[in-house]
Amino acid sequence: MTKHDFTLFLFFSAVASATFSDEQEFSESESCNEREFDKSHFYSNVKYCGEIPLTLSHKLIDALPLDEVEGNFIRAVKGCVFSESQPTPLKEPLTLAAVSQDVLRNILDLNESVVQNEEFVGCVSGGKLFPGSIPLAHRYGGHQFGYWAGQLGDGRAHLLGEYTNRKGERWELQLKGSGKTPYSRSGDGRAVIHSSVREFLCSEAMHFLGVPTSRALSLVVSEEPVRRDPFYNGNVIKERGAVVLRLAKSWFRIGSLEILTRTGELDVLRTLLDFVIKEHFKSIATNDPDKYVVFFSRVVNETAHLIAHWMSVGFAHGVCNTDNFSLLSITIDYGPFGFMESYDPNFVPNTSDDEGRYSIGAQANVGLFNLQKLLEALKPLLTSDQLSQSQQILREYPQIYHQRFHELFKAKLGFLGNEENDSHVIAFLLKLMEDTGADFTMTFRQLSEVTLSQLQKGSIAPSVWALSDLSSHEYFRDWVQLYVQCLLSVESDSDAARQHRMQGINPRYVLRNWMAESAIRKSEKNDFSEVALLQKTLMEPFMNQDEAERAGYASKPPSRAQQLRISCSS
Ligand SMILES: *[C@@H]1O[C@H](CO)[C@@H](O)[C@H](O)[C@H]1NC(C)=O
Ligand SMILES: *[C@@H]1O[C@H](CO)[C@@H](O)[C@H](O)[C@H]1NC(C)=O
Ligand SMILES: *[C@@H]1O[C@H](CO)[C@@H](O)[C@H](O)[C@H]1NC(C)=O
Ligand SMILES: *[C@@H]1O[C@H](CO)[C@@H](O)[C@H](O)[C@H]1NC(C)=O
Ligand SMILES: *[C@@H]1O[C@H](CO)[C@@H](O)[C@H](O)[C@H]1NC(C)=O
Repeated sequence: MTKHDFTLFLFFSAVASATFSDEQEFSESESCNEREFDKSHFYSNVKYCGEIPLTLSHKLIDALPLDEVEGNFIRAVKGCVFSESQPTPLKEPLTLAAVSQDVLRNILDLNESVVQNEEFVGCVSGGKLFPGSIPLAHRYGGHQFGYWAGQLGDGRAHLLGEYTNRKGERWELQLKGSGKTPYSRSGDGRAVIHSSVREFLCSEAMHFLGVPTSRALSLVVSEEPVRRDPFYNGNVIKERGAVVLRLAKSWFRIGSLEILTRTGELDVLRTLLDFVIKEHFKSIATNDPDKYVVFFSRVVNETAHLIAHWMSVGFAHGVCNTDNFSLLSITIDYGPFGFMESYDPNFVPNTSDDEGRYSIGAQANVGLFNLQKLLEALKPLLTSDQLSQSQQILREYPQIYHQRFHELFKAKLGFLGNEENDSHVIAFLLKLMEDTGADFTMTFRQLSEVTLSQLQKGSIAPSVWALSDLSSHEYFRDWVQLYVQCLLSVESDSDAARQHRMQGINPRYVLRNWMAESAIRKSEKNDFSEVALLQKTLMEPFMNQDEAERAGYASKPPSRAQQLRISCSS
């Protein structure tokens, strides 16, 4: 290779052009089941949290059709968006392993002293219900690993209701791991400590990295045994059950719409879509004849932005099925995700995803695939003119994605304006990182911590380990020269200002798998100290923190981390 002889944007150019399938024709089915819902009778045997001042409401039930059948037995559900479903409490003793003070205070308006109340653990794990709560399981479908999978739905989650906080924000509270629902298929409705610690820590960490995401209030663990086959090799082991209470402005997914189109329930489709637009896309006029096109263009734009954001922090989601993609373009459903360590566009966080369908470098393409499926779901509601407008909008997705990717990586390198060579400098750096296996997070961080003159001298201390790895590349100096040239072309800038800017966006700490695994091992023995330390550290990922440094969170990953096989126990 010569120093300019590499494919620009290897990491992020592979966005195929959009194609559309026209095969499906859908017919209108008979109208959906509208049922008067009598909230007063609800579940006579339910215990309510009397002492926790959090009252939930249920716009969703008022606005959207509900399953006529009651009970948690597994079935094919028709004509509705939700089924009532009562959580099955985990067996006591239960331990409150972690709480997000930020969610408690700033989303739920609660005083931190509520966690001392004996009732709290029950309320956040499905043993008791918040006043006003009517637990629901959502019916959705989806494309999994490229294929239509039919009815899926919340198989182990319960939507408790909505809370409107004093800022006027509306949040939906959901339990995950809270027992069977009509959508459990062959599952047991449970989640284990392993996946619950990961979801709790990572959704909060993503928020503090500035990436749109669901949030998590609490993590409760039990002694209840749950059987799992973590490596899909027939080796069934007992793990312990856990419940996370998670929150989002909305939990609707692409698959929420897809199932209604597939089954021809077009009235329900229109009702749901109108509801989502009215509640969550407030700038779209409800009487706009093109509102579905405008809605689609918003989702296309925001999805492109979200995935570019994932890439900028090295995040691979791991299961980008259409039922794991939010209509609000927030990150949801933390499963076999991973933060890339050594830079590798083929990084696949799910060790069983042998084809690498959801590798980090494939995410932009998978986003496009999912948006195509969204458009197919909207199609019966569009005129042919609106359909072709929407197809045109989708063709712009690669450009929106590249633009955003470019802006984010420019900022990561401290560039201020449009430097003539900036794209080249970004692509060149990624290529050096790929060749040397330099650590993604720490290369950018350490670039923000060294001065330009240190860089130019090439005197990189071994303790600056990621940059030191990078500097072993034969073209490192050429890259530095180009980089410095770009930076110096902005006369008003100073090196200190550059470092400051870069340190504000290049994290020093991300949730690496080895850190999560270590915290999980301790959690399984009821030691939650490392969960607490990670939680605290990841709330301020851009700040150097003594305790985190002592724990090695910014050090070269232990060599065992390279071989670590991540269990897919969920
Ligand atoms: C929380 O509640 C405690 C006890 O009721 C009270 O002493 C404290 O001032 C409250 N804190 C805040 C921030 O409101
Ligand atoms: C696209 O989404 C981003 C991120 O939410 C937003 O800042 C931007 O204004 C949107 N652009 C358009 C054209 O809607
Ligand atoms: C993603 O969706 C699948 C259904 O396709 C569901 O089984 C799984 O739990 C979801 N993933 C996560 C991590 O929640
Ligand atoms: C990991 O990938 C395999 C193979 O595609 C898939 O069957 C499995 O469901 C994935 N695991 C998770 C947790 O998504
Ligand atoms: C861009 O790179 C070329 C080739 O390395 C160089 O000649 C030119 O001066 C650079 N431009 C700027 C503004 O740094």
